[in-house]
Amino acid sequence: MNSTTIQLVQASFKKVLPIADKAMVIFYEKLFEINPSVQSLFPSDKAQMGQQRNKLRNMLAAAVAGLSNLQKLVPILQGLGKRHATYGVEPSHYDEVGSALLSTLEAGLGDDFTPEVRQAWTDVYGVMAQTMIEAGESE
Ligand code: HEM
Repeated sequence: MNSTTIQLVQASFKKVLPIADKAMVIFYEKLFEINPSVQSLFPSDKAQMGQQRNKLRNMLAAAVAGLSNLQKLVPILQGLGKRHATYGVEPSHYDEVGSALLSTLEAGLGDDFTPEVRQAWTDVYGVMAQTMIEAGESE
């Protein structure tokens, strides 16, 4: 993950922040379209799902902000990955979440979602997912 990648991800994330709440709604819609069976892992309660969207948004914001300090970010992602294994999340789900995330960014950024921005997010999400999966499997 080089500094250009980090800059592209941080700058594009800033652009979607004003519509973050809407983007989170789109994200879960896309995820449940890609794999309807994962919906059962999430709370069915509407208010709880609202909290879940906020938690994901905040964690993504923290991760994006922390990309230039991976030493600090990695243990946070490892803890998150271990908890995810206990939620019933399987390694294969990470690709589905990655696809939902990319298409949400595409919807939110429009023309600003350039091939370079897509590649940067693919790289960054790949590192995050890999770190979480490995930590979840080591339990
Ligand atoms: C980079 C990837 C991901 C990030 C940043 C992320 C972030 C979060 C956060 C912050 C929480 C709140 C609870 C906690 O901190 O432990 C959470 C819960 C959860 N996540 Fe993720 N997640 C990711 C990937 C996934 C994947 C691949 C799935 C699979 C479908 C998933 C499903 C869930 C579920 C089921 C919960 C618990 C919901 C509940 O019972 O309240 N997440 N996630």
